[in-house]
Amino acid sequence: MSTVLKVKNLRKEFGGLVAVKDVSFEIKKGEFVGLIGPNGCGKSTTFNCISGLLDQTSGIVEVHGNDVSNMRPDQIHGLGMTRTFQHTRLWREMTVIENILVPPRKQFSPSLLKSLFLPKSRKEEEERLAMAHEILDELEVPHMAHNLASELSGGQSKLVDIARSRMGTPNLLLLDEPVAGVAGPLAMKIFDNLRKTVDATGISILIIEHNMDFILRQGVDKIIVMNGGEVLMIGTPDEVKSNKAVIEAYLGSVGDEG
Ligand SMILES: Nc1ncnc2c1ncn2[C@@H]1O[C@H](COP(=O)(O)OP(=O)(O)OP(=O)(O)O)[C@@H](O)[C@H]1O
Ligand SMILES: [Mg+2]
Repeated sequence: MSTVLKVKNLRKEFGGLVAVKDVSFEIKKGEFVGLIGPNGCGKSTTFNCISGLLDQTSGIVEVHGNDVSNMRPDQIHGLGMTRTFQHTRLWREMTVIENILVPPRKQFSPSLLKSLFLPKSRKEEEERLAMAHEILDELEVPHMAHNLASELSGGQSKLVDIARSRMGTPNLLLLDEPVAGVAGPLAMKIFDNLRKTVDATGISILIIEHNMDFILRQGVDKIIVMNGGEVLMIGTPDEVKSNKAVIEAYLGSVGDEG
């Protein structure tokens, strides 16, 4: 299987604070991978370095074999990588379907932004619209299409964010806590849908989730466990479940789980 994402000895400092100390892992084509770890262990910062939002202090990030260290977020997005953010932000005065048609936040290029305001071919527009509706169907919320984003619950907003991330047919999706605050049954459905998408299309998904018990049961291929800016272990859900260091890291953080 080809390597879609390679992170090697990634380090990110903010002044004196070492947010990511030393992180290495690889994601292969068609893999569905979880990234977990206690609050503040550097998960989102790792995403920010991969997606070009932050420059790493040192280390290597490669997307499809391309060193992306000096690339802008929109250039990395151009390689087929799409990400979502921990804090979902939709355009509140726009409908769900309109939100889905807007390119992902902080990843569109200046030229793409400009092109948003240029007339597009009717065919192109129809295709994008059909795709947006298809994704809503797949997520089993076609009825939400014309609701205003401002009317949605937190969980529904998360769904729209996931739908938006699927537009443009990415081959690598980075999702930062997409089901935080989403009710259990819906959260499970979302994971189910992501698993099916991976199996049907061969894309790769890396998903941050703060609830370890939950992700252990959601059918991911492997889990990367971070702690204190480092990778504690990488293994299958079964391997993670029975790893002593992981259990200790989590027990040590009980009480500040968000
Ligand atoms: N832009 C920033 N400037 C300064 N410090 C930052 C910045 N972003 C993150 N940090 C710090 O880096 C550390 C790691 O933060 P990060 O958001 O990556 O953790 P996380 O694992 O995503 O946590 P959570 O589970 O709470 O989302 C934290 O101490 C955080 O306060
Ligand atoms: Mg985070």
